Amino acid sequence: MGKDTDVFSSGIAVVTGAGAGIGSGLARRLGALGMTVIVADINMDKAEQVAASIIAGGGKAEAVRVDVSVPAELDALADHVIKHHGPVKLLINNAGIETLGYVWEIPADRWEKTLDINIHGVVHGVRAFAPHMIAHGAEAYIANLASVGSFGIMPTQTSYMMSKHAIQSFSECLYLEMQVAGAPIHVSSIIPGMLKTEIFNAEAGEGEPAAAAAHRRKMFEMMRDYGMDLDEGCRLFVEQIAEKKFWVHSQPDMSRDMIAARAAFIQSQEAPALSPEVEHLLQH
Ligand SMILES: NC(=O)c1ccc[n+]([C@@H]2O[C@H](COP(=O)([O-])OP(=O)(O)OC[C@H]3O[C@@H](n4cnc5c(N)ncnc54)[C@H](O)[C@@H]3O)[C@@H](O)[C@H]2O)c1
Repeated sequence: MGKDTDVFSSGIAVVTGAGAGIGSGLARRLGALGMTVIVADINMDKAEQVAASIIAGGGKAEAVRVDVSVPAELDALADHVIKHHGPVKLLINNAGIETLGYVWEIPADRWEKTLDINIHGVVHGVRAFAPHMIAHGAEAYIANLASVGSFGIMPTQTSYMMSKHAIQSFSECLYLEMQVAGAPIHVSSIIPGMLKTEIFNAEAGEGEPAAAAAHRRKMFEMMRDYGMDLDEGCRLFVEQIAEKKFWVHSQPDMSRDMIAARAAFIQSQEAPALSPEVEHLLQH
């Protein structure tokens, strides 16, 4: 048995973007271990389905609607959870979207939405919950969703890549801030490789340039054909968070390759170069 069966057998977990994909897998796993799971998502129907499945399995869950791109909604979520359930033991800032297309062709709204969800949603999740977790004084956990993309560069996924670079840097700083503050909060950076989720579904690309549709389709097929099983990936994530690991991987080999390539690139100070794989992926 992993450490997660012990550490996460009780207490309150809040997972954003838990109505689908990795968030839903994490919520189900935490519910099965015995936590009360706050299934927070902008899509209330999906959140309710996930909460109902946890309850049907004998677990405890509540679906709550939240738009993580609005800081006040994260404050309201924190107030609601603390008032109705008590102190939070585990916060997972998971909600995120992918946006494809040339930088100059993506409409301003989609740019703002991507950065507001992927970056500000995580920042304000921590800002809203951390003071309560610190004041409570008990050992607790915060995990933020980075990506193997946090260490890579991919043209026409620029807004996503830069947001994931930002989250990796945010989580590293946050980890150290908890030490400086003497707070008993363990910070993890979750680095999925590729898990089968809904992130490249056609409807998730609403507001992208029309020219990005073929790329989105290719990414959808790649994830469908080669993505890791969602429940297996989420089981691995929860286990490593419970072990207080900062680096939390689903596919460690993929992470290692991306990090090594990034380190070599920075060390070399060469100009960025398109690899044959990237050129192939972007040919329509
Ligand atoms: N799937 C992968 O292989 C992979 C790889 C690397 C990183 N990630 C990261 O994992 C996280 C989850 O991705 P996924 O693949 O499970 O995506 P997904 O699209 O399957 O699920 C995302 C969920 O977030 C919700 N959401 C979207 N906008 C929201 C908002 N404003 N407020 C609240 N909820 C919102 C959606 O309704 C959905 O339920 C993201 O941060 C993503 O960048 C995923």
